Amino acid sequence: MSCFGCFPGHANKQRRSDSGKRQQQQQQQTPAPTRQDTLHQPRPGPEPASNKDVGKDSGGKNIKAQTFTFRELAAATKNFRQECLIGEGGFGRVYRGKLEQTDQVVAVKQLDRNGLQGNREFLVEVLMLSLLHHENLVNLVGYCADGEQRLLVYEYMPQRSLEDHLLDLSPSQKPLEWSTRMKIAWGAAKGLEYLHDKVNPPVIYRDLKSSNILLDEEFNAKLSDFGLAKLGPTGEKMHVSSRVMGTYGYCAPEYQRTGQLTLKSDVYSFGVVLLELITGRRVVDTARPIEEQNLVTWAEPVFRVPKKFGELADPLLKSNYPVRCLNQVVAIAATCLNEEPSMRPMISDIVTALSFLSLGDGENNRESIRGQPPPKDARIIDILGDYFWEDGTGDDDEAAAGQVKVVAEATECGSNSCCDMQCQSER
Ligand SMILES: Nc1ncnc2c1ncn2[C@@H]1O[C@H](COP(=O)(O)OP(=O)(O)OP(=O)(O)O)[C@@H](O)[C@H]1O
Ligand SMILES: [Mg+2]
Repeated sequence: MSCFGCFPGHANKQRRSDSGKRQQQQQQQTPAPTRQDTLHQPRPGPEPASNKDVGKDSGGKNIKAQTFTFRELAAATKNFRQECLIGEGGFGRVYRGKLEQTDQVVAVKQLDRNGLQGNREFLVEVLMLSLLHHENLVNLVGYCADGEQRLLVYEYMPQRSLEDHLLDLSPSQKPLEWSTRMKIAWGAAKGLEYLHDKVNPPVIYRDLKSSNILLDEEFNAKLSDFGLAKLGPTGEKMHVSSRVMGTYGYCAPEYQRTGQLTLKSDVYSFGVVLLELITGRRVVDTARPIEEQNLVTWAEPVFRVPKKFGELADPLLKSNYPVRCLNQVVAIAATCLNEEPSMRPMISDIVTALSFLSLGDGENNRESIRGQPPPKDARIIDILGDYFWEDGTGDDDEAAAGQVKVVAEATECGSNSCCDMQCQSER
């Protein structure tokens, strides 16, 4: 069993494979001495020895995921051959495989026995994904707890993770288009909405980041990695207390300070991902000038000047985005990243807003949105009311005065083609 804190300090990281890795942060960073990092040392714990014991350790919950023997998964991945390796994270290596019995293509994640993420996360992952099912959550095909071996078997996601398409692209890689970015944001938001609003008690995901948003062939987003997920507060309680875990940069500041975890902690992480989608920048990037290394700190002054929102846009978009939609998405990101958790929107409000912003350039999708009743004046309208982004020309005073309604704007956007690329002419 192991746990790791998210801690401040600049990561001394390699560019490609390291930014999101909880494990590597602990090994490579020189964190400032904070309360969190002294709290979260890896803790060894009892480990189940077999697939049967995993069922027992799950507290009697009925785990429906299929069990595999190590031999079956070795056969599926050609003995974990290098050519089948598709990624590596804090838990261990991920291989592409083909199940012999069914020919199903899968992703097999093998727990690194020397790694920091361990058996507790393995159990939580199996349990959570056995109980939770949604089109925006990755499907767990099964697992293997065979002797010392711990492996997780997922549906294979052909486009891999958002991180693979957004950050540190190779010269031959095509940058994600604006509409695809919005589609991914919307899918991730719907996955989070399911966890927060549809599941009872709610589930706090705690590990929202671009490497955990997996993409299918059509760039539909699915959340993955539930090893840190935690049941949320019930009744009158607004938070659950927890040791601080997660990935530095994505963690909400109040959670990092106090260990008090709320649904709004996930909303903060969502804001970080949204900002990554807008800017194409990593949340922490030590290769940039010092004042640009922390994405949120870099973007915050711009949040206060709506006419500058365009400066946040990923240069790889080459200005191919609808300005009003960009401004609205920046405004949503800004509210998600509010220091004060109660000022952050509910995920359901974000889903409503993004549903209109993300579907603007698909005729069919737009038709299906038209068929829906107009959104109510959701809380997000109040929250975003401070922002003025009409064509990005507002200044600070206007920002305070302008009561622009993002859902209404977004609805208009989705129904009158303003999200189409023609709308660039508005600029
Ligand atoms: N189901 C899957 N289908 C296809 N590719 C996957 C799948 N799961 C993971 N991957 C690939 O493997 C990479 C590593 O994933 P993994 O979850 O192990 O680590 P991570 O998310 O990068 O870091 P962390 O361990 O901190 O969560 C992903 O970035 C993705 O490219
Ligand atoms: Mg992951």
